[in-house]
Amino acid sequence: MDKLLVTGPCRLNGTVHISSAKNATLPILVATLLCPYPVKFDSIPELMDVATIIKILESMGLKTSKNGNELVADASHLDNQHADYSLVKTMRASVLVLGPLLARYGVASVSLPGGCAIGARPVDIHLMGMEKLGAEIEIENGYIKAKCTKLKGAVITLPFPSVGATENLMMAAVLAEGTTVIENAAMEPEIDDLADFLISQGVKIEGAGTSRVIIHGMDIKDLKPSGKNYRVIGDRIEAATFIIAGIMSGGDVKVTDFNPKHLTYVLETLTKMGANLEIGDNYVHVKKSERLKGTMIETAPYPGFPTDVQAQMMALMSTVEGNSIVTETIFENRFMHVPEMARMGSKVTLKGHSALIEGVDSLSAAPVMCTDLRASAALILCALNAHGQSEIQRVYHLDRGYEKIDEKLTNLGAKIERVKG
Ligand code: EPU
Repeated sequence: MDKLLVTGPCRLNGTVHISSAKNATLPILVATLLCPYPVKFDSIPELMDVATIIKILESMGLKTSKNGNELVADASHLDNQHADYSLVKTMRASVLVLGPLLARYGVASVSLPGGCAIGARPVDIHLMGMEKLGAEIEIENGYIKAKCTKLKGAVITLPFPSVGATENLMMAAVLAEGTTVIENAAMEPEIDDLADFLISQGVKIEGAGTSRVIIHGMDIKDLKPSGKNYRVIGDRIEAATFIIAGIMSGGDVKVTDFNPKHLTYVLETLTKMGANLEIGDNYVHVKKSERLKGTMIETAPYPGFPTDVQAQMMALMSTVEGNSIVTETIFENRFMHVPEMARMGSKVTLKGHSALIEGVDSLSAAPVMCTDLRASAALILCALNAHGQSEIQRVYHLDRGYEKIDEKLTNLGAKIERVKG
């Protein structure tokens, strides 16, 4: 298992280019299962989670060819509608294959993803929606066994705006008979990007990015390649991580190639805390500021404060003046970074779903262990700020979702060494 040795404190300076969004890439690659022809992409990030989804799709017969960040995915001839536990257990987003397989073949057998470090994360909303579209679903031996003659458009009201359920149902609805309306849909930019991808293949979708998404079902033969390579949006969570890194280091960092509008709430919060940010069309320039002040945040579905930036924000809050309060409302167990951050001197008291963070004057290096993707990012942020050399173990969590993070930080002046193991 690789580990990172990070020596701090350091001031970051320069420009960092943001990769395409992991959480948009995953559903979009799954959506190629609907397309009976090769689809070309020019910005697929090199991430463990992307490699995992490609492996699952290949197990269904998808053919891929890759050249750097370019990828061709060809689902002309699929021969398997089964997603095996051995693959699904490593990544929950695998359950997204259910919708397109069911829509295209009328049958799918997909392993239930099982537990997850940050919360129980059931898939009941996905299954309820598929049933509304006319699927018969049974849970057998740990697998979701779904079948239908032909899915039929329906009005589906989600009890919670689940990102994954919205994506799964959008993909299923593409090949359903008639129109599907998803009410209380998730509004995350990644949903909008999935819709843009499907629209580029000839699908008619309205309202993506709002709470009411309308998908007009069509025949598979009417899907058409766009003729252009598809470019996935920039990763707003990676961007937020680098913006916070820049602020914590007191440096001058331009974070570019993403849409700052996707981070409105985060940027407003940082500005309110005292950050000096220049916000452009496709970049945020972090400039030197006075020490920031504490604040309160509560995670919420988009456009609220993203749960995927909560841990990184707590790293920042550990170093600002005064107290902060963070309330996590999306996942029930997303404070696993707290005991690790405490090892570096961060002062956090947990009470239920909330955390009280007392800002300290300085953090100190320590050996720490990553527990999940965003927790790992928070630990790197603390280590960059801490005095001395921190050893960050289990960085495979980080490699799931941050493309070349050590290289990008090194280019900004950080002292990071990856020890292969
Ligand atoms: N939920 C249910 N039932 C369902 C679906 C969801 O109870 O059928 C609950 C979950 O247990 C969770 C909440 O609803 O407590 C939110 O889940 P959601 O379905 O919205 O999330 P997701 O699709 O599983 C995506 C991202 C996550 C991100 C969340 C919330 C991908 C691949 N993953 O997960 O990303 O935290 O939305 O924004 O898009 C990450 O990148 O680190 C990450 C965890």
